[in-house]
Amino acid sequence: MNMDYLLKTAFINPFGENHREIKQIIEKFTTLLLEHIPITYYHEQSEDNYCPVLGEIPETGKPLSEILENLGKILKGSLNPYQPQYIGHMDSIPTLMSSLGEYISSSLNNNMLSFEMSPLFSKMEVQLIQHICQLFGLGKGAGGVMVSGGTLANIQALCIARNRAFPTKDMGLHSYSHQPVIFASDCAHTSLQKAAMILGLGSSAIIPVKTNQHAQMESNDLEEKIRECLLSEKKPFAIVATAGTTVTGNIDPLQEIANIAKKYNLWLHVDAAYGGSLVFSSTYKNRIFGIEQADSVTFNPQKWMYIAKTCAMVLFKDKNLLQDNFRISAPYMNETEFVNLGEISIQGTRHADILKFWLSLQHIGIEGYDALIDQSFDLASFFTREVKKRDFLELATEPETNIVCFRITPSNIASQNRDQWNLKLQKFLLQEEQIFLSLPIFKGSRWLRAVLLNPYTTKKLVENMFKKIDFFIMHNHSQI
Ligand SMILES: Cc1ncc(COP(=O)(O)O)c(C=O)c1O
Repeated sequence: MNMDYLLKTAFINPFGENHREIKQIIEKFTTLLLEHIPITYYHEQSEDNYCPVLGEIPETGKPLSEILENLGKILKGSLNPYQPQYIGHMDSIPTLMSSLGEYISSSLNNNMLSFEMSPLFSKMEVQLIQHICQLFGLGKGAGGVMVSGGTLANIQALCIARNRAFPTKDMGLHSYSHQPVIFASDCAHTSLQKAAMILGLGSSAIIPVKTNQHAQMESNDLEEKIRECLLSEKKPFAIVATAGTTVTGNIDPLQEIANIAKKYNLWLHVDAAYGGSLVFSSTYKNRIFGIEQADSVTFNPQKWMYIAKTCAMVLFKDKNLLQDNFRISAPYMNETEFVNLGEISIQGTRHADILKFWLSLQHIGIEGYDALIDQSFDLASFFTREVKKRDFLELATEPETNIVCFRITPSNIASQNRDQWNLKLQKFLLQEEQIFLSLPIFKGSRWLRAVLLNPYTTKKLVENMFKKIDFFIMHNHSQI
């Protein structure tokens, strides 16, 4: 093939002819990235970092120097999660091994659709997922698949739950006049509504169950809602419990909910997208006790396991259900004794996300993850104590993970102005200290939320932040 019209480094040459140049390019990209990471600023669109070529497609390839210059601008305009002040979201910095794993898997470009297109990575996915299932206590018959994010994991789990409860895999829902429904707490993730919509149940199929003052599902209300639905001819088929709610990180009473699921013969799905990482903690693992009773579990190592996005999985107590209630065979794929993973997952072609997870586990080990989780709990306790020291601050819930949600509520703020003042405080901390807290709505009001994931966020930083909050309150006292 004539390649004269392409730059010599357009591809990695399979015969090694351009590898010296490729190494130089990779080194330049690495240098640019490493120079960018320590720079202290929070993402904002200013004149300075405006990149004029975002939508441009050049007629001919540009010189590397120009590409690198524009890439530098793109990095400058991007969110930089490495900043220890970036503590507003479940957005961790990636382990080095997971960044490098991304690079290797995308360069090898294996397709996780089938065994013949990714023989070793497919085996790695099956074996590592089986190991993770054992850590969750799901039993010897358990298994699962990697998916691109917690939303897809929840969709697939509920799809299999629905297909097991009703013969919908082939026949669909057209013969059903009564709505199949799912119970989840009013603090559960919105991906459940998406799942219900995509599964043809309608988003109203997610019946909200009340939560207590710590955002945990109320078992009494769950039973009441199940009975009401049975009387109204709705068709309950699943309960979703959350281990680590999105806003406050709280954990539903898994054991109690598992007992109710058994009593009413309902599928139990545990959305442990966030809290699932606690299986790696010797100290806090007991907080998700009961998860071993789940029929399915969502787990996102891209959150508290610090794996580069995306890295998520859906696990099933009985892996045969993936075959019986989900699998659609692809006739263009070779049949082996090994199942083609793309036939038992929503996506067909998939990235080899498993490699970066495997590499991180090898490099950090269970003890390393245990220590990382301990450290973030320690910081969350320190943070919580600082909130409790101040009578003008209020906690949304008692934290159970490393998420702390709080707000300012001085007695002289009228309740209708509280959201406004918390927004002002959020902006103030961002401008003064480059500290980013998110501002979610929880039970109808705006709260400030810290997700203490970054291992480089220190107690000193948290202490300074609270001094700034004190200053903000003193400074605005007359207006508040
Ligand atoms: C509890 C929970 N479940 C599901 C999700 C959805 O995960 P993703 O954004 O990876 O699709 C999230 C996201 O934050 C979550 O917190």
